[in-house]
Amino acid sequence: MKLTLLGAPGAGKGTQAERLSALLHIPAVSTGNILRAAVKNNTPIGQQAKAYMDSGKLVPDEIIIDIVVERLLEPDCSNGYILDGMPRTVLQAEALETAGVQLDAVISLVVSDETIMKRMSGRRVCEACGSSYHMDAMPPKRQGICDLCGANLVRRQDDEPETVKARLAVYHQETEPLIQYYSERRLLKNVTAHATIEEDTREILRLIRQSE
Ligand code: AP5
Repeated sequence: MKLTLLGAPGAGKGTQAERLSALLHIPAVSTGNILRAAVKNNTPIGQQAKAYMDSGKLVPDEIIIDIVVERLLEPDCSNGYILDGMPRTVLQAEALETAGVQLDAVISLVVSDETIMKRMSGRRVCEACGSSYHMDAMPPKRQGICDLCGANLVRRQDDEPETVKARLAVYHQETEPLIQYYSERRLLKNVTAHATIEEDTREILRLIRQSE
């Protein structure tokens, strides 16, 4: 199964990608996580990406496309994968097709901007392993501490309200056209992600079983 999760910043792509990865036994490939690791390790790609990410803009297509196409060639992706945050532009979608990537389904997580603004204020991420939590919807067992590795939970740098607004504007302008793109290819499945995290997962599983 080859899936991608579309949705605004904070729609729940990362949360659902991790849950689906565990349930379907295929890797979650998150461009945001790959880029954050590159920034943390101060690699040449990280150095190029940092300013775009901090201001809520998209990293240039040519950087992203190479990273993802290379990642999908790794052996753990041979039985499928869940893309989280890729593609984000029509050009990226076309590049995936050119590289021979044939998606089985595109899940669009539909969440209002108002809900996104509220959600982002409650998100906390592990400063060591990057695991994501929410103070109300998905709290850690011990306040401020990652369940998985015991490191501190912090607010993501791009989760400040002004940056979230900028990211939402970029989403509407550059990523939303993909809804029509994948709808025309009959791959699009909408999930109105106002329910709980668990209910969203159940709905996604129901929809992708229809694509098998
Ligand atoms: P990325 O990390 O992908 O950021 P994003 O798309 O803005 O998405 P987020 O990670 O913020 O949110 P999410 O949808 O994963 O939500 P989450 O599950 O965490 O990318 C960061 C940056 O990298 C971009 O801005 C860009 O610069 C660059 N980049 C990445 N990919 C790129 C690409 N392809 N091209 C160019 N540039 C790229 O959930 C959010 C919170 O809500 C969590 O706290 C969670 O616990 C909670 N939550 C989730 N679901 C629910 C629910 N149903 N109810 C209540 N709370 C919920």
